Amino acid sequence: FTKPVWQLFDNATVLAEQATQDILNAAESAISQRGAFHLVLAGGTTPKVIYRLLAKTDSDWQHWHVYLGDERCLSPDDAERNSVMASECLLNDVSIPDSQVHFIPSELGSDAAAAAYDKVLQNVGQFDMVLLGMGEDGHTASLFPGHIYPEGPLALPVLNAPKPPPERVSLSSACLSNNDQILILITGQSKHDRVLDWISGVDMPITNITTNNQASVYCDKEAWTGDA
Ligand code: 6PG
Repeated sequence: FTKPVWQLFDNATVLAEQATQDILNAAESAISQRGAFHLVLAGGTTPKVIYRLLAKTDSDWQHWHVYLGDERCLSPDDAERNSVMASECLLNDVSIPDSQVHFIPSELGSDAAAAAYDKVLQNVGQFDMVLLGMGEDGHTASLFPGHIYPEGPLALPVLNAPKPPPERVSLSSACLSNNDQILILITGQSKHDRVLDWISGVDMPITNITTNNQASVYCDKEAWTGDA
């Protein structure tokens, strides 16, 4: 990873407030410079509070284009879908045009969904911002430690993911790396061992993702110290 800047926060609430402000600032700057803001959303639990805070703010939503970093192969209305979480916490409450909300059609199965999403991703230049989390087992998006993923495709079918459901679609490291700004969100005691791995140089999926400009890791005190 190209030297991310680590920033530590007392708790997950202040971390979320800062991340929300950063996303709004990135949107404002991208929209004023290029007329559009291309954002990759993270799944999982950590970003929910950020998405809910964003939903209460005013942004130039007409110019937002959103993508998902990964998706689980489940029916479209399954509560475990990242698209459902993103809709409930953010997208249902803001006026981003439907044609600019790019969900991964994982109900088609991982192969067909990855192929379809690859075509969508080919039309994106650089992402303005990529949000990512990290699982307790060190996975990020749906790239899992110890697994080998093909280089080349922008979106990958993932089978045998150790975290359920086993079938998923993930953006590749190369695709996620094509960004102006990346923000990695790590909260909670259960992530502490992976934080130690990362700072001591262990090779993990996150260490294969880079940035064209700016990389930040926002970490709360629990994840940093391992104390609840
Ligand atoms: C997913 C996520 C995944 C997530 C981490 C952290 O769909 O599983 O995109 O990569 O970011 O698992 O998840 P938590 O925030 O729930 O710990």
